[in-house]
Amino acid sequence: MSKKTSSKWINRQTKDPFVKRRNQLSARSRAFFKLVEINDKQRFIKKGYKVIDMGAAPGGWSEAASEVIGSHGHILSVDSSDFKSVRNGTSLKINCLDPRLKGKITGVFVPGSVDVVMSDMAPNLSGIKARDEANWLDLVDVSLSIADLFLQKNGTFLVKFFQFRDTASAYNRIQNSFRMVKRLKPQSSRAESSEFYVLAKGKKNSDQEVLN
Ligand SMILES: C[S@@+](CC[C@H](N)C(=O)[O-])C[C@H]1O[C@@H](n2cnc3c(N)ncnc32)[C@H](O)[C@@H]1O
Repeated sequence: MSKKTSSKWINRQTKDPFVKRRNQLSARSRAFFKLVEINDKQRFIKKGYKVIDMGAAPGGWSEAASEVIGSHGHILSVDSSDFKSVRNGTSLKINCLDPRLKGKITGVFVPGSVDVVMSDMAPNLSGIKARDEANWLDLVDVSLSIADLFLQKNGTFLVKFFQFRDTASAYNRIQNSFRMVKRLKPQSSRAESSEFYVLAKGKKNSDQEVLN
């Protein structure tokens, strides 16, 4: 039986207030509310900002960010799956582990010019913990490398985390790159999920500083 036809799944979806609100607002995904909630509290996406959204499909986060940045901002939404680009944005279909990713992004944004890099990327879970953890760590590392290259000095990095054995070392890598790092669990993130988000601000050794 597929996940979407199990009675447990249907029961959870029927009771979930964020699924109801998503349907009322025709938001592209339930994840939309996670970004709205995080940004309401942290105010890191603002009018006119340049944003990179990694793992953007079906586009809930991009949709939420696009409302805030308005027509003077721009959002580049990246995913390996097909999805429709949002207003004030461009979409890029590529596997983020593809070595051509940086070059493709450079076609849209100059390195060191972006205000926000965010990643809600999650690997397809195999159920084999070590493999799932390794796949997720690759996604964190690639999003951190995009943040390192494209964020402006005071830019913000938001990335999805899971509780795994080596989660602390991934968190430390982010602390080594940014001045302020915090852990967030929005109410719209399911309590039973080990998912949480890490928000980091202010690059420690930005390329711009090294070059100057
Ligand atoms: C939780 S969903 C993102 C939901 C999205 N933030 C929203 O609001 O609609 C995770 C996404 O990560 C993408 N993803 C996972 N691994 C990826 C990779 N290596 N390259 C690009 N996208 C990837 C998946 O295709 C999926 O669309």
